[in-house]
Amino acid sequence: MLFAKPVKSILSKVFTGSPLSLEEQTPIIPIRHMKFDFEPEKLDPKFYRNAELASAYFASLSIFLTYGEDLVIDTARYHREFIKDPLLKQRVTSLIGQEAIHSKMHEEMNDAYAEIDLPVKIFRYLAEIVFDYGFNRLPQPMKLSLMAGIEHFTAVLAEYMMNHQEIFFDSQDEKQRAIWMWHMLEESEHKDIAYDVFQTLSNNYALRMAGFFPALITILVLIYVASFTVPLYRKPSNIISLKYWKDVPYNFGLLFGFKDGVYGSTLKHIFDYMRPDFHPNDHDTSDFLAYYKETLLHPETGVLTPYLVKEFIPALRS
Ligand SMILES: [Fe+2]
Ligand SMILES: [Fe+2]
Repeated sequence: MLFAKPVKSILSKVFTGSPLSLEEQTPIIPIRHMKFDFEPEKLDPKFYRNAELASAYFASLSIFLTYGEDLVIDTARYHREFIKDPLLKQRVTSLIGQEAIHSKMHEEMNDAYAEIDLPVKIFRYLAEIVFDYGFNRLPQPMKLSLMAGIEHFTAVLAEYMMNHQEIFFDSQDEKQRAIWMWHMLEESEHKDIAYDVFQTLSNNYALRMAGFFPALITILVLIYVASFTVPLYRKPSNIISLKYWKDVPYNFGLLFGFKDGVYGSTLKHIFDYMRPDFHPNDHDTSDFLAYYKETLLHPETGVLTPYLVKEFIPALRS
């Protein structure tokens, strides 16, 4: 078991009746600048569980995520103007800042992946069709709903990954490990912001559902189809290789298996979003966050420490 017992300072205050400070009730989210300098020859194409197809899924996800993040950034920027609560406004700025750096860092990794036989150009072309000619042209209320839907999807993924930390240590690729762990930490940190913006400005259940299904289905179908094409792109003879087809059920299980698979085991969490009184914080990840922040950013041993340039808190503005 890789998890140490996390600090539970906030929870212990709840149990002892000590009042929570405003910051503890609504944590301020820092924006962290990172620098990875990915080297194509050192990227492990079997980073995820030493499995080629499932790893190709995450490499493809890295491409499609950047388009989802750009939609989140544009939508959050547009709607920030209509928010009156300075604290929520500040949190939206943190969301925008974190997503902007995710998108930039993943693009750098995607550029490096393009040099080791990942069809990055084709996937970017596909993603542009879906986003530039589809999602990005929707009316703002629908984009607001999509933003909340996308952020729910990444929150589920983040909780799964934080709950299965061992998956990051199957490979020696320290930079891929760091980028995914950093990204998942921050997705969990800001998981309630898009939802709170949606509820504050819309609070329309039908609209929330209207953004949930297209976001989920498009992301899952697109990325899963894409993940099958990667090994064939790298080696077309895989199509007639018995070994390749034998690997398919195993890889499918890693992603969709009900017991431990990324999406199979999280179906309940995914569809909990359909509950009318759902809130992202109903799924408590505070212990994971406390543990991750303490260990990943430890000045000497932290997985993220070699890549962290600086962090800052955006100003509180009315
Ligand atoms: Fe992100
Ligand atoms: Fe996010």
